[in-house]
Amino acid sequence: MKKQTLNNHPINELLQQRWSPRAFSEKPVEKEKLQSILEAARWAPSAYNEQPWRFIVGIKGDGTWDRICETLVEWNRQWACKAPVLILNIGKKTHEYNGKNNVTFKYDTGQAVAMMVTEAVNQGLFSHQMSGFDAEKAAELFNVPDDYQVISVTAIGYYGNPDELPEDMYKSEMEERKRKSLKELVFSGKFGEQSEWV
Ligand SMILES: Cc1cc2nc3c(=O)[nH]c(=O)nc-3n(C[C@H](O)[C@H](O)[C@H](O)COP(=O)(O)O)c2cc1C
Repeated sequence: MKKQTLNNHPINELLQQRWSPRAFSEKPVEKEKLQSILEAARWAPSAYNEQPWRFIVGIKGDGTWDRICETLVEWNRQWACKAPVLILNIGKKTHEYNGKNNVTFKYDTGQAVAMMVTEAVNQGLFSHQMSGFDAEKAAELFNVPDDYQVISVTAIGYYGNPDELPEDMYKSEMEERKRKSLKELVFSGKFGEQSEWV
């Protein structure tokens, strides 16, 4: 299902088409497609090329998927546990080269996930990221070492039937995508000063 995106300026089609649905189909995702999605994340840029991202991939029917689903808050569980793929996004908090804190580990991991969800669109798939989950429980369930942080979960799959969603979710599923204007986001001179470029 396509959602209307009212761009003010033209952008890449994959970026334009991405949105975060809740109506996932239970249709399995082909292994090759999932591999391409993970490969896209692998090529993300990162500070010192540290590549601090790690992913735990759960496929419906395996114990990993069950445990990721278990960590989600009830509201997310209602829709996300229909998706055939659930991925736990994890970042390494310290630098490999000197053991000191890596201040950009979340930034870098977020970029890798952004690449992943863009590739998902390229593969004809949909994704929905979540922070509504119990990160401590996830770390425990998956033996995540102390110098790593579980950051988010991504649901991936084909589009399903929105009519099966509860009323509040159906409503937001059908809503137009909303964004702040570039004027609110982009400045020149000092912070808050309008830029002539937007
Ligand atoms: C880090 C992150 C955490 C999010 N957490 C949740 C969540 O717990 N539950 C949910 O339904 N959506 C969640 N979302 C989805 C956002 O609400 C969604 O991306 C935003 O409304 C923009 O919509 P779009 O992705 O369709 O453009 C999250 C997105 C991100 C990037």
